[in-house]
Amino acid sequence: MCGIVGYIGAKQAAPILLDGLAKLEYRGYDSAGIAVLNEQAVGVTKTKGRLKALSDLLDGGKKAAGSVGIGHTRWATHGAPSDVNSHPHTNAAGTLAIVHNGSIENYMRIKVFLQEKGYQFVSETDTEVIAHLADYFYEGDLVDMVVKLTEKLEGSYALGILSSEHPDELIAVRKESPLIVGLGDGENYIASDIPAILQYTRKVYLLENGEIARLTKDGITVYDANKNVVPKEVFEVDWDVSAAEKGGYEHFMFKEIMEEPEAIHKTITPIIKEGLLKFGRVPDRVAIVACGSAYHVGVVGKYVIEKLAGIPVEVDIASEFRYRDPIITDNTLVVIISQSGETADTLAALREAKKRGGRILGIVNVVGSSIARESDEVLYTLAGPEIAVATTKAYATQLSAIYLLGLSLAKAEGRLSAADEKIYCDALERMPELIAGLLEQKDVLAQYAKQYYTAKNVFFIGRGLDYAVALEGSLKLKEISYIHSEAYGAGELKHGTISLIEEGTLVVALATQDLLFDKMVSNIKEVKARGAVVLSVAEEGNTEIEECSDVVLYIPKNNQLFTPSLTVVLLQLLAYYIAGEKGCDIDKPRNLAKSVTVE
Ligand code: AGP
Repeated sequence: MCGIVGYIGAKQAAPILLDGLAKLEYRGYDSAGIAVLNEQAVGVTKTKGRLKALSDLLDGGKKAAGSVGIGHTRWATHGAPSDVNSHPHTNAAGTLAIVHNGSIENYMRIKVFLQEKGYQFVSETDTEVIAHLADYFYEGDLVDMVVKLTEKLEGSYALGILSSEHPDELIAVRKESPLIVGLGDGENYIASDIPAILQYTRKVYLLENGEIARLTKDGITVYDANKNVVPKEVFEVDWDVSAAEKGGYEHFMFKEIMEEPEAIHKTITPIIKEGLLKFGRVPDRVAIVACGSAYHVGVVGKYVIEKLAGIPVEVDIASEFRYRDPIITDNTLVVIISQSGETADTLAALREAKKRGGRILGIVNVVGSSIARESDEVLYTLAGPEIAVATTKAYATQLSAIYLLGLSLAKAEGRLSAADEKIYCDALERMPELIAGLLEQKDVLAQYAKQYYTAKNVFFIGRGLDYAVALEGSLKLKEISYIHSEAYGAGELKHGTISLIEEGTLVVALATQDLLFDKMVSNIKEVKARGAVVLSVAEEGNTEIEECSDVVLYIPKNNQLFTPSLTVVLLQLLAYYIAGEKGCDIDKPRNLAKSVTVE
């Protein structure tokens, strides 16, 4: 997804912009560009492709002298990835340059309006429309111009703007798309994400929807949409820049899998120590809404909450929930799960649920993100920054958070005795150590990956909680290795999909639940009988499964409700090593973005 960085100060802007954009590469992009003010002129350099191509064009930044600039990495939405569609976009005179994240919904109407006034367009983007509209509104003051822009633009935007007529200013404004302002000493910054500027400053302003910031090198003024000055509080970033780097591993994904024990420990310990979550009024229903892997956490949540608390739970994909007229009452607890806290559909679902009277509990990783700010309460996962597009440690911490929520609701319902609370919390606290043990088996997974990486189709099957984990294992494999895979409830396979099983088809069978173990063994035999190669996952001791499997991986015994946290580690490693064997771009899989801020 697109990234923005901007700089105003005494240093050369271009190297800082390139560096900041490099920190945002993880978001996924297909083109990049910068605009730098030099001797009252705006110099724009942009290109399709990787940042390296941009950096080469600029000789590492040396070819763009000037100390005020904006930069952008684009992930195409309006118009194909191309040099001309890349940002920054300018007005016809080339005096004004704009970078934009988000999507302008009424851009076609505005484009027609501007064309009637004689404006000509060179790109297919909605952003170029903003540049020309800004030109149309400009009457000498950039903030006045932006106020008028925001009255006209519909949709989402984070904008960085500079003008050769105001060489000492950099302007930022946002609506729905995130944007922060970084406070330096004799220099200031803008960025769509904290890692872009973290090596320069830890002090930031989190811009709210509709806020406009005017930056000079010595100061920042923030205005509301009516140009009233807004006092801002400084937000101190307390995580380290090294936390956002690879730390010696070949891939962020691997580093992040290795960080799971610590991330889970950090997430659960304060809540277990301070007592479970409290609810003023116990909800009579729970609605969990999320996308992708976060949705898969929700599927685990349904099993866990219904089992522990006896409260009915619905789980929805956010893009479906927001348009399906969901039934939400003032006693529905709406649980919104998101690593980034910026996923467009999830945020829209939150707002829809809020409008309908639901109480919103956000399970969010990024502090200060839109979902965190708009939730009534937030249960933060403390996974730290997650860079690999494929989520691993954030998913792991979201699972822990959902277990804590299940236990909290059970307690509030009077269904959890003090003794049981202790048993469950002890089991949760054991998790980091058990996962650390599984991670030591990584070489075994690497070996199996060598055996299976040529598979064309893979099926993940399971029942109950194992089905929920199968969904995540399958997503992990397909998103990074590009191998087609599907997750099925093991009992559902015979209703059609079993026709796809043929000699040599790889089936990953999850059989960690005692209650469903015999059923799983039968289902494994069904696929075996049709020629499948079966890799099973079972709890230590359940060796009976070896009879019907080609390979068995074991997870250590713990409370059976928490097996997803263990099983998924094996599936993440398997996907990682298979993608490695295939030579895939593991941290930045094709067509994907870390933070999906468009619908
Ligand atoms: C999973 O590996 C993906 N990156 C994706 O499914 C992700 O979980 C989804 O886009 C939701 O993102 P969020 O948690 O930031 O809202």
